[in-house]
Amino acid sequence: MLSTQRLLLRPWRDEDLEPFAAMSADPAVMEHFPSTLDRASSEALMTRIRAHVDRHGFGLWAVELPGVAPFIGYTGIAHPLFWPDQVEVGWRLARAHWGAGYATEAARAAIAWGFANLPLDEILSLTVAENLRSQNVMRKLGFERDPGADFEHPLVPEGHRLRPHWLFRLPRPR
Ligand SMILES: CC(C)(COP(=O)(O)OP(=O)(O)OC[C@H]1O[C@@H](n2cnc3c(N)ncnc32)[C@H](O)[C@@H]1OP(=O)(O)O)[C@@H](O)C(=O)NCCC(=O)NCCS
Repeated sequence: MLSTQRLLLRPWRDEDLEPFAAMSADPAVMEHFPSTLDRASSEALMTRIRAHVDRHGFGLWAVELPGVAPFIGYTGIAHPLFWPDQVEVGWRLARAHWGAGYATEAARAAIAWGFANLPLDEILSLTVAENLRSQNVMRKLGFERDPGADFEHPLVPEGHRLRPHWLFRLPRPR
């Protein structure tokens, strides 16, 4: 569990499924993903995220706004499914909580935790060219795009417009 000035990054609870599924069914939130998620897909993803946290002691934590909203989304660091020896930072917040600086605040805490507790040379961040909101968060956190490291996302179907991805790196601070 991590806390910041305004947020709690905590382990998931069963009650998070409802707001998580609502968030992941919102076309605005999922604009840069191949599709929105139905309830079963959200449940499966939540189970996978929880399993990562249980196994590794870190992951995409549930984000709480204490006294205001018990679950506004997730932010954290995790091994990408298809790159188990790397660590990436990730975030997804409900639309009602965009534009308040929460993603950046939560990610800053997650990254600091990662460099303090894991033997990482760097943390990665992956996104599509069109996801400017996500890239804005990355920029504020100090990530830089590695233009030589563009890749095809292995979990997006071949030929899909969202398959080409950009890779951003944040080296361990000296
Ligand atoms: C990507 C995402 C998490 C970004 O959320 P966000 O709220 O825009 O991000 P931030 O936390 O950086 O907040 C943004 C704005 O809040 C504003 N803000 C308001 N109050 C603030 C405060 N107290 N402190 C800091 N910023 C504040 C800032 O102006 C900032 O915008 P700026 O950087 O242009 O100045 C969100 O759009 C999202 O969930 N998208 C869908 C999922 C997704 O695409 N995930 C990533 C896949 S790669």
